Amino acid sequence: MRAKIIDGKEFAERVRMQVGAHVARLKDDHGLTPGLAVVLVGEDPASEVYVRSKGKMTVEVGMESFEHKLPADTSEADLLALIDRLNNDPAVHGILVQLPLPDHLDSDLVINAINPAKDVDGFHISNVGLLGTGQKSMVPCTPLGCLMMLRDHHGSLSGMNAVVVGRSNIVGKPMAQLLLGDSCTVTIAHSRTKDLGEVCRGADILVAAVGRPEMIPGDWVRPGATVIDVGINRIPHPEKEGKTRLVGDVDFASAKEVAGAITPVPGGVGPMTIACLLANTVTACCRANGLEEPEGLTA
Ligand code: GUN
Repeated sequence: MRAKIIDGKEFAERVRMQVGAHVARLKDDHGLTPGLAVVLVGEDPASEVYVRSKGKMTVEVGMESFEHKLPADTSEADLLALIDRLNNDPAVHGILVQLPLPDHLDSDLVINAINPAKDVDGFHISNVGLLGTGQKSMVPCTPLGCLMMLRDHHGSLSGMNAVVVGRSNIVGKPMAQLLLGDSCTVTIAHSRTKDLGEVCRGADILVAAVGRPEMIPGDWVRPGATVIDVGINRIPHPEKEGKTRLVGDVDFASAKEVAGAITPVPGGVGPMTIACLLANTVTACCRANGLEEPEGLTA
């Protein structure tokens, strides 16, 4: 079988168009412009690329972008003071502190200092608890993007067997909660799971988020299953010396011959993350102003 390739780039563009249309309505009908503040501490090159890309796309959908670049030796007190200012700034509806933070800063403390209503990453402990108990929350962007793609492909996910490989706070755990919320039977597996191949073969929906390049081969995929590959791993290029290439956590070449549908890397889940960040910012702006939320952009 040759799998349908789920085009995350095209899907993300669609989501950004929906976000842009909602932003225009908020401006026209209510004089509101959603604002997203991104805080970057230090000079990690990969983080700088992400932050630049976030800023550009924020402006493209008509929202206000506030970038705060702080030196690597910023003290915890100074960072917390900035978050306090952003929490109290009515022009800021979403706050994202780019991770990882330098080692001398306590990420949990910093994230939990963000007003949960502005926590567009969905990492604040209140949002984690709300999601875990099926209440309205801010939902982490990458799992939200995966859920949108799955709903688009399948319609209802009710009763499906979902296996999430990976137990991170950012992807694996919230992904499992979201799938449970959509009435899947959910297994969380990870690198230490016994007979991982056998567990994966039970999945109608297989979400790979372990961060190990091409760890999941095609013969772990049930014929016809939907495979969502969250992994973004840079490995040495097999043919071009000195070059690298991006691969997922799934061995795409073998998996696409077995799966019913699969997301590629790059061009699958990756582009959905920023699109969902923009969606979360619009949602946060609507909630802050007691307005109806955009349909289809939340869990
Ligand atoms: N670093 C890499 N991905 C993310 C993300 O989704 N949110 C934040 N805050 N930092 C990141």
